[in-house]
Amino acid sequence: KIPVIIDCDPGHDDAIMLMLAFGSGKFDVRAVTTSAGNQTQEKTLANALKILTLIEARVPVYKGCEKPLLRNLMISDYVHGETGLDGPILPSPVFQAERMSAMEGIAKILTESDEKITIVPTGPLTNIATFLLAFPHLKNKIERISLMGGGIFRGNMTPLAEYNMAADPEAASIVFGSGVNITMCGLDVTHKALVFQKDIEAFRAIGNHTGKAAGDMLDFFSKFYRENRVELDGGAALHDPCAIAWLIAPDMFTSKQCYVDVETQGTLTLGATVVDFYNVLHKTPNVEVVYDMDRDRFMDLLIEAIRQLP
Ligand code: BDR
Ligand code: CA
Repeated sequence: KIPVIIDCDPGHDDAIMLMLAFGSGKFDVRAVTTSAGNQTQEKTLANALKILTLIEARVPVYKGCEKPLLRNLMISDYVHGETGLDGPILPSPVFQAERMSAMEGIAKILTESDEKITIVPTGPLTNIATFLLAFPHLKNKIERISLMGGGIFRGNMTPLAEYNMAADPEAASIVFGSGVNITMCGLDVTHKALVFQKDIEAFRAIGNHTGKAAGDMLDFFSKFYRENRVELDGGAALHDPCAIAWLIAPDMFTSKQCYVDVETQGTLTLGATVVDFYNVLHKTPNVEVVYDMDRDRFMDLLIEAIRQLP
């Protein structure tokens, strides 16, 4: 099993990502840490505890930063609703977050681990950047960072910036410049990870609580996509599960090792991931940039994972 720490801001697609991480049986999840992003820290933390309660996964949960490094918090309630996870009725959490902060929790786990650990961020990168700044000597205990964010050719927050990058560009720049191996699942690939009405029905048809919650969640989430992303032909983009799916089956994806930096100054391009796809700068590539996938295999992976859960 791959030892991982998951840093997320649930969030509908974050919640499906957690279902995939736990249901696949491929991961030794050492902790879940929460980022402020789709909703406030208080709400994403509560949602993480609820999802873990729903799927009966009891791992340490650590509360992350309340706001981006330098900027104001920019929630995306227009996609994820007032709670950050509108739609399903979720159980009240049966356990609480640890007392330590996310940054301290990550440091503790890396320090105590004999193996290197993979970090999977699916929200703004504030917690990971904070950790890297505070504990630079622990960098060599990170196997890889497999994240959802950015894109080669497009944005969804601004024309060129994806939400997780745009929400905390300075944090993203610190992570991309850290020297740690990075896999980036950006919008190029996640806009191919489309879930359609028939897939939502297939989740429900599994017949367990998790499948029903996934279905109810995606009914809400899809509405935004149907109304605002007509180019996706009625599909909703399951962004965050891609960062986990790549670790399970990298052969399901197409990617290229490229040099990537994040724009922290530009007025039109703030938060854009600048991907040197053709290596015109002749810099050493630092990121495995994922840009295509086999959608049907991805959907099978999700269904099989959800089937294993309560
Ligand atoms: C990203 O932004 C959030 O709304 C999603 O959870 C995903 O992590 C997509 O741009
Ligand atoms: Ca997310």
